[in-house]
Amino acid sequence: MNIYHPVYKCMDKYAMQQLFKHLPFLDTAEYTDYYLNKSLSRFSHQPPEMFYLRYDLPELNTGITKNLNEQLMENLGFPSIDYALVFKHRLPQPIHIDGHSFVRQSSLNLPLIGYENTKMIFYNLKSKDEPCLHTDAFYFNEDSVEYNCELPGDNNWVLVNTSIPHRIINSDPQNPRITVCFRFKTNPTYEHLSNLIDKHLKC
Ligand SMILES: [Fe+2]
Repeated sequence: MNIYHPVYKCMDKYAMQQLFKHLPFLDTAEYTDYYLNKSLSRFSHQPPEMFYLRYDLPELNTGITKNLNEQLMENLGFPSIDYALVFKHRLPQPIHIDGHSFVRQSSLNLPLIGYENTKMIFYNLKSKDEPCLHTDAFYFNEDSVEYNCELPGDNNWVLVNTSIPHRIINSDPQNPRITVCFRFKTNPTYEHLSNLIDKHLKC
């Protein structure tokens, strides 16, 4: 896969390299079926005030997740998976940086369904001192950021830099976007994992 495909609109190639990277060597169909199967029944009711629903996958050491963990650790040198979440979005997200008590640096994501026409937009903070609302994440006002780059939603594995302000837009309330996300022990930076992927791709 050519990561410089023109569909990825970015201010420059360097910016894009700092924000997301695909893992074209990982299977998608089998993982998509498995995680949809595990999570869909958990998302039958979404209160109107909730802009997202989250389901924490309980078993990481069995079946396909065990295989994924082993593949990432043995072939790429990733730390082991710390936890896995499935998110359902039917409304646009506020602009945020991931993390609750501290910034979550990176996430390995696979959009499962409802990703058509969605985009992950990355922003630059206008100033490092921009205030944010810190609740279940670090939320920013639109006025405090400027557009940097966008990643169109598709059914492919992608490592994303979650320490940069971002949000998913264009979710369809009739066809919500569901994404499985893996977070790694030691909270590795995007740069660290991205370098490991590059090394693997060159082998
Ligand atoms: Fe996020």
